[in-house]
This record gives sequence, C-alpha cells and structure tokens, in this order.
Amino acid sequence: MAGGFVSQTPGVRNYNYKLTPKVFVTCFIGAFGGLIFGYDLGISGGVTQMEPFLEEFFPDVHRKMKSAHQNEYCRFDSQLLTLFTSSLYLAALVSSLFASTITRVFGRKWSMFLGGFTFFVGSAFNGFAQNIAMLLIGRILLGFGVGFANQSVPVYLSEMAPPNLRGAFNNGFQVAIIFGIVVATIINYFTAQLKGNIGWRISLGLACVPAMMIMIGALILPDTPNSLIERGFTDKAKQMLQSIRGTNEVDEEFQDLTDASEESKQVKHPWKNILLPRYRPQLIITCFIPFFQQLTGINVITFYAPVLFQTLGFGSKASLLSAMVTGIIELLCTFVSVFTVDRFGRRVLFLQGGIQMLISQIAIGVMIGVKFGTVGTGNIGKTDANLIVALICIYVAGFAWSWGPLGWLVPSEISPLEIRSAAQAINVAVNMFFTFLVAQLFLTMLCHMKFGLFFFFAVFVLIMTIFIYLMLPETKNVPIEEMNRVWKAHWFWGRFIPDEAVGVSAAEMQQKSV
Ligand code: BGC
Repeated sequence: MAGGFVSQTPGVRNYNYKLTPKVFVTCFIGAFGGLIFGYDLGISGGVTQMEPFLEEFFPDVHRKMKSAHQNEYCRFDSQLLTLFTSSLYLAALVSSLFASTITRVFGRKWSMFLGGFTFFVGSAFNGFAQNIAMLLIGRILLGFGVGFANQSVPVYLSEMAPPNLRGAFNNGFQVAIIFGIVVATIINYFTAQLKGNIGWRISLGLACVPAMMIMIGALILPDTPNSLIERGFTDKAKQMLQSIRGTNEVDEEFQDLTDASEESKQVKHPWKNILLPRYRPQLIITCFIPFFQQLTGINVITFYAPVLFQTLGFGSKASLLSAMVTGIIELLCTFVSVFTVDRFGRRVLFLQGGIQMLISQIAIGVMIGVKFGTVGTGNIGKTDANLIVALICIYVAGFAWSWGPLGWLVPSEISPLEIRSAAQAINVAVNMFFTFLVAQLFLTMLCHMKFGLFFFFAVFVLIMTIFIYLMLPETKNVPIEEMNRVWKAHWFWGRFIPDEAVGVSAAEMQQKSV
C-alpha cells in the first residue's frame, strides 16, 4: 500500500533549478489565459440578475422574479436563462477537442492566440446583442475561446516551469481565473446600478479586454522546449531551455525531453493510444479530476452566488457585494496553494481542502434547511444570513487551495508527451461538460432538491476525498517527462506501466519506495 502514498519516488531526478526572471515573466503572461475563463464565469451570474437584461431577453423570468409569492427555491428557475450561462461550456467542450491537435501541431502559443481571438469576437457579439440569437452566437464564440485557452495554457505553464516550482507556476492559471471572476463581479456591481441596457452591455462587452491581453501575450510568448522538440526544432529547443533555466547545464533535462519526444514519435494516434492499458492511470485520473472538481459544487457559488444570496433574502445590491467578497476570499486563498503546493505536495492540499468543504457544505445545508424547510418560504434573520455567508466563505477557501488550482495542475502534469495534448483535451472536455451540467441544472435542482442540494454535493466531496487518498500518487517535484516512475511505484497503478517505460519492475519500485 505504501507505494500509493510516497512523496519521493525512487529514481526520479531532481534538477533543482533557480527561478529565472525569464521563466517568471513568461509564465506570468502565459497565465493570462485564465482571465477569459474567469471573466466569463464571474460576469454571467451578475448579468442574469440585471432587470433590464431580463426584461429584454427573458421577460418570463423577469415577471416571475418580481412576483411576491414565489417559492424562494424556485424564483429563478428557467431553462432558457441557464442556457445563456451554460451554452458557452458546450462550445468550449467541442473546441477543446480541435484545440488539442492545434496545440500539438502548431505549438501551445498559437492555440492561446486563437483562444483570445475567438473570445474577442464573441465579446463584440454579446456587447452589441440585439436579440437572443446574437447573445447565443456570442456565447458560443466565447466558449471556443475558453476551450482553446484552457487546453493550451495549463500545459504551457507545466512545461515551462522548473520541475520544483511547477505547482506554483501552474497555479498562476487558477489565480488568473479567480482574478477574472473578481474583476467581473466588481464591474457587475457598478454596471448593475446604471439605468437601461447600458449596464449589461458594458459587462458583456468588456470581455474584449482580457481577450486582447491574451492575444498580445500569446504573440510575444516563446514556445515551450517540449513543444519545440516535438515539432523538430531541436537546436531552438535547447537554447530556449538554457535561457528559461538560466544556465547552460541543462543536458540532463534536455536529454529527458528528447527521449520523451523520441518515444512520443512512435505514437501516431494519441487519441487511439490513450486507450492502451499502459496509459490507463493517466486516462482515469484525467477523467475523474475534472468530473470531481465540478461535483464539488463550486460553480453553484461562482455562477449563482448573487442568485443564492437573493434567495437568502439579501437585496440585489447586497447580493452582488457578497458575491464580490466570496470572490476576493477565493483569490487570496488560492495563494495558499501557490506557496505550499510544491512544499507540502498535491495530496495534502486535496485532502485538507476536501474535508473543509465537506464540513461547511453540511453546515450550509442544515442551516438553509432549518430556515426555509422544504416549503421554501420563510425569512432569515440577519445573523443567520451572515453565518451562511461565512460558511460559504469557508467552503470557497477550501476549494481555493485544493480542487480549484489542482484540478488544472494535476491533469496537465501526469501524462507523457505522446498523449499530453489528447489528455488535456479530455480534461477540458470533461470539465466543461460538468460545468455545463451544473450550470444548466442548478436552478432546477435548487427548486426541487432544496437544501438537499448541499448534501448532494457533500456526498461527492466525500467520495472524491477518498479517491484522492487511495488513487492519486504525489507528483510534487517530479520532472514532467519522468512521471512514469510515479505511476510505476503506485500500489494500484504500477501494474499498468510496462517495465521498459521506467527501466525497473513494479515490485522493485514499490520495494524502493517503502
Ligand atoms: C474551475 C471553475 C471554477 C473556478 C472558480 C476553476 O478551477 O474549473 O469551474 O468556476 O475554478 O472557482
């Protein structure tokens, strides 16, 4: 059993590089890729709360929202309204599948550029929308952008970063996501106070700013050494590696990258190969991590915090303000992961964060259940409402240093080069599919499951925490092209990795790791 829980895998090289300004600046700009995803996540919930927006496009919901005797749980239940939010994620799902080929063949940076560009066009459609069709076309284009960016950016960051700081650098993506969310909520807070249609137009149209940042960023970014080698630019790759590592002593790492690339050349069809038994651990983890990340229920808060707070009886302005507070807490707490993920490792954060989320979700469910019962009518006092907001913040903090950043980090670092782009596409597609499902179903689920919804997500958090405990080996400090050794040393996954992939048998690896 011990093999599953080792933090130092035998035989894994430790390159121990210093942090160079070049890699820092490159990853800082690369992480911008998270901004478009975050901006959109943060803007949708607030816009769907704005009365002029609802009046213009969703008059039925607007009427229902105004009705005084509505069941609190069902006030905003409308499939069309949720389709506005969730259509983007279906588009992102589809585009991530194409994006994987572009990322592999043309490199990570062009995939990012394309992401920024389609997002830019989408923001124009939305900002100038005259009817529902324009609104939905805009959403779909935004979705394409998100699919491309989420496909390429985490992989870009993981490949650029020195192995001993990969977690922190990759977490930059999540920091950018949350930063995008917070900025969007602040913008919503102000635009919601504007009269007429101008408010929502500004909120949706301003998505062009993060889009431009990514486009410009992608143009000036260099490609990763891994991708350069994969595409045959060996000399350029070596120079790039030397310059980002800040030393000429990169032979060992360069050799590992070249070996990985040689091996990956044997693989002609990444999509077919990923189904081979030797990639089973990566495939299963790559499918489960994004599934579980969404089943934490985080996007109930991300999309619908303002709705949820209004359901709790807060006024519209107070609701947007509370959503802003939870966003800022999430941003600050993501830095806990940035500073600890390479020291304590991924597993500790996953396990601690999971337990914290579990406890707070149960407490929120109990409190809402006691106050609104199953009928869904009732009043909640100020103290109780504040207590629920505090519990939501504790839950969000737990997510912020565990499933949030690690949900993107782990899938981007566990697969060998030959299947990396395909694996990342699966990661994004699964993530987007369940983001879509939660976004689409949340308001209906709240309407029918009532406070039980929080228990529903709590059960999943329990399952995922056990899953991590048993099935996820520690990957901190392990060079990305040496990850096979980690799988080989695992008590369960070891059997799937052929001896020649690491040059040692599973029994030997596990023995060394005890
Ligand atoms: C998740 C999103 C979520 C965001 C902010 C990301 O890691 O993929 O679904 O909305 O974090 O909480």
